[in-house]
Amino acid sequence: MTLNISVIGTGYLGATHAACMAELGFDVIGVDVDPEKIDSLSRGDLPFHEPGLPELIRKHVDSGRLRFTTDMGEVGAWADVHFIAVGTPQLPGGTGADMTYVDAATTSLAQAITKDRALIVGKSTVPVGTAARLYDLVKAEKNDDVDLSLAWNPEFLREGFAVKDTVEPDRLVVGTRHEADEQLLREVYAEALDRSTPWVSTDFETAELVKVAANAFLATKISFINAFSEVTETVGGDIATLADAIGFDERIGRKFLNAGVGFGGGCLPKDIRALQTRVGELGLDHTMRFLNEMDHINLRRRDRVISLAEEILGGDYAGTDENHSAVEGKRIAVLGITFKPLSDDVRDSPGLDIAGRLYNAGADVSVYDPQGNANAAKRFPRLGYVDSMTEAARGADLVVLTTEWNEFKQLAPADLNEVVAKRQFIDARNVLPAPEWEQAGWTIAQLGRKFD
Ligand code: UDX
Repeated sequence: MTLNISVIGTGYLGATHAACMAELGFDVIGVDVDPEKIDSLSRGDLPFHEPGLPELIRKHVDSGRLRFTTDMGEVGAWADVHFIAVGTPQLPGGTGADMTYVDAATTSLAQAITKDRALIVGKSTVPVGTAARLYDLVKAEKNDDVDLSLAWNPEFLREGFAVKDTVEPDRLVVGTRHEADEQLLREVYAEALDRSTPWVSTDFETAELVKVAANAFLATKISFINAFSEVTETVGGDIATLADAIGFDERIGRKFLNAGVGFGGGCLPKDIRALQTRVGELGLDHTMRFLNEMDHINLRRRDRVISLAEEILGGDYAGTDENHSAVEGKRIAVLGITFKPLSDDVRDSPGLDIAGRLYNAGADVSVYDPQGNANAAKRFPRLGYVDSMTEAARGADLVVLTTEWNEFKQLAPADLNEVVAKRQFIDARNVLPAPEWEQAGWTIAQLGRKFD
């Protein structure tokens, strides 16, 4: 029997999962409550940037294996496996995850299912305990002649690599209460299992926790090296060499040890805050208190860029008035406004935060990002958004690189020497060869390196 698959929620995670399931050979329907989204997805138009995904969606809409609908009744009567991929955004003030969408999607799906047997599979990142709660909810919906069950299968995809991470995951984690549910998921992921992808079969709680533990660990790794940055900035030393040297130890590993302006995006910051809230609810807040510190270290990196800007631009600032910043009236170019390259996502983006703070302190800020200008302009319309690096840097007193897009990594002093008003640079991602810039007459500050 070939399995029919539905994916509820066609945002970043859902659209990717639906397209990748079609790529694996299944017939797939993506479901969303938003008819406009359904229309544009059916044309392969995505409201976000993800390399390779629009092409994959168009390929499978054309092949007939992938379609989109707003009709929950249709999928309830058709699919064997239903993936829940709706969002769990941060509640106001970072006080946990908003479960409204997951709860609503699961309830309306369970009501719509009319097949004798179906499995609902949660993929969204949720507070531990959610799967057990939803399992009871789903079971209560049907009488004994319907075999409706629930499993948890967290997603680990990275923006920019979403297709690859879904089709060729590092590992698959499934939390189930019944052997038959695990077997069904083995069928869904047969291709990955044929490639010997590690398969972690476990209970609901472990499956939910694996996701938040992975993100908390990654955030910790980044903040760990950024804490050492604060030390090397004070005593001298080279943070990248330090990261290389500890990274050669296989127990540590070099990945996610790039010091810079820290982590942002829609996942890491939100997930570590939601985890702290959840363990607090469980009376265990002491266990994850260190994550609070990780969050602080992360945000302090942004403060460091602001203070470096003040230090550099304060060179000719005559005043001592505490109510005024040395950046006031200065022209600053910000290169990179997305939270990381290969994405147009500006959620919790260090670059956007820094650009906004410089603007609020009175600077004239000009921004260029290869993909993020439009999204950033929606959040912070008052910045000057331009279409190229040189346009952003024209007449600038300071250039600040906040996202390591390839085109910025390839930047050479000669590209900007005659464009800027002052040869002053903050490389907040440590990607440029500082000595070369210094030789060309630039003052260049990097995070994790002492700046005199
Ligand atoms: C992350 C997880 O990697 C992924 O497994 C999970 O499913 C969702 O959250 P993503 O948010 O797409 O994915 O971005 P990621 O590549 O993890 O980067 C997160 C942030 O950390 C970015 O702002 C990035 O610039 C920063 N980062 C990453 C560093 O500052 N240094 C590093 O060494 C690595």
